[in-house]
Amino acid sequence: MHILLQADSSLFLGRFHSLAVHLPIGFIILTAVLFAISKITKNPALLRPLPIMLLLGSLSAFAAVVLGLLLSEEGGYPANSLFWHQWLGITVVLVSFCSWLWVKGLIGKKKDLKETDVKEEESGFNRKNSSWIVLTLVLLISVTGHLGGNLTHGENYLFDYAPDFIQELMGSENSETKIPFVFPEEPDSTLLYEHVLEKVLIQKCASCHDDATRKGGLIITTREGLLEGGENGAVLQAGSAMGSELFKRISMDPASRKFMPPKGAPLSYAETMLLKFWIQEGMPFDLKVTDERIPEELKLILQTDYQLETERKAIYEKVTVEPANEATLEKLRQLGFRVSTLSEENNFIEVVAKDSVSAEKLNALIEVKEQLTWLDLSNSGMKDEWIAELNEFKMLTRLNLNSNSLSDSGIVKLQGLDNLEAILIHSTLITDSGIKNLVSLKNLKRIYVWNTKVSEDAVDSLLKEHPKLQIDRGVTESKEEKETAKSVEK
Ligand code: HEC
Repeated sequence: MHILLQADSSLFLGRFHSLAVHLPIGFIILTAVLFAISKITKNPALLRPLPIMLLLGSLSAFAAVVLGLLLSEEGGYPANSLFWHQWLGITVVLVSFCSWLWVKGLIGKKKDLKETDVKEEESGFNRKNSSWIVLTLVLLISVTGHLGGNLTHGENYLFDYAPDFIQELMGSENSETKIPFVFPEEPDSTLLYEHVLEKVLIQKCASCHDDATRKGGLIITTREGLLEGGENGAVLQAGSAMGSELFKRISMDPASRKFMPPKGAPLSYAETMLLKFWIQEGMPFDLKVTDERIPEELKLILQTDYQLETERKAIYEKVTVEPANEATLEKLRQLGFRVSTLSEENNFIEVVAKDSVSAEKLNALIEVKEQLTWLDLSNSGMKDEWIAELNEFKMLTRLNLNSNSLSDSGIVKLQGLDNLEAILIHSTLITDSGIKNLVSLKNLKRIYVWNTKVSEDAVDSLLKEHPKLQIDRGVTESKEEKETAKSVEK
């Protein structure tokens, strides 16, 4: 007996509630059906088993109520529905039991018994008000059962798959669990949590973990709820998927009774991996699908499973600018720059210094700073003291400073070039401290450092810190070849 009183045992028994409730439902419905048939066919013999069925219905309803009360200890049921379900269940027990007493003549007066029906007297079901009893019990058991169904399956369970017109009739909104994925057009605005994971969690967990149901005390549909956790505390632990209850529940053996979701489609492999990554990263709600931190294999998942673009586009693919003034371009050409547009689709330009530059010449470029996205100053006599001028060119995505006697004191002045993705500094005097400063440029992806004073160790440690960065130490890259071709042309 002691063992039955332990919390887990009561839950164990409680789960039999859903099984047990079918007995009183069966007895009461059968009573009603036999009663109706007997009235229609005027066959009083059918009434005879009814009192005993009423008694069995009442006793089994009592058992179901006890098991139900044990089950409710599990918690996580919406209080309002639970209250009504519970008390209606108790009412079923009382009404059916009193009805049995009444038809057996143990309570109430017998005076309205018809003289002619003495034969069926023992059944008691020919007494004047027995139709009311049957009707009341059927109604009670239906409402109780329906509320119980909602408690286990969620509010809209019954009509979830009903044709649209019935759903409208029932006033049930399309259940949340069917919300589709909607992504912003711009890949840079697509967030891993809001546009992907949140939708997955709503689809697969909301039926039991929304505001109304909150099974286990856990609301998954809001960020606050998710972070707050369930009745056993937090379900997410930043940086540790394996230490997070939520992740354990979705990744454990599906046969376990703790596996989530207990019914319905489990999370797919892709969804599980994305969720795991997100928890490992510390649950960043603002992480974009284009973020460098997302490993290649997950980006592949985002591309194939959700048709998402996961590479951040270069600035010149995203924005449009006015064309540069032709007269200005002509002036630049006379100053010894080769100027060409990047592509026919936009007005961005590439500027190559053919001869040596000077502070004045660099200044002249200010007029095209809106359009200037590739700048090649290789082998142009570029000096450390002019580097700061380059910070004006915010649209720069590629900067070539190869083969100039530039040192760390110049390169550290490069700042705020937030669109810069590639920088070429080979054959310069730049050392470890200069290259370390470059990683502060937030979109830098590639650095070409061949033939500099940058050490292998510095490159290795930078790569370790910034795994997404490419640091090119050789000259075999195709861009380098283009570079060589240009020098020949000069
Ligand atoms: C069919 C209903 C149902 C669905 C769907 C469901 N859960 Fe649950 N969940 C429960 C119940 C009931 C409990 C409480 C009993 C338990 O802890 O096992 C619970 C408890 C939990 C807990 C433990 C909360 C705590 O603090 O103890 C977590 C975490 C959880 N669920 C995560 C999920 C996730 C994630 C999903 C979606 C992938 C999900 N659940 C879908 C019914 C459901």
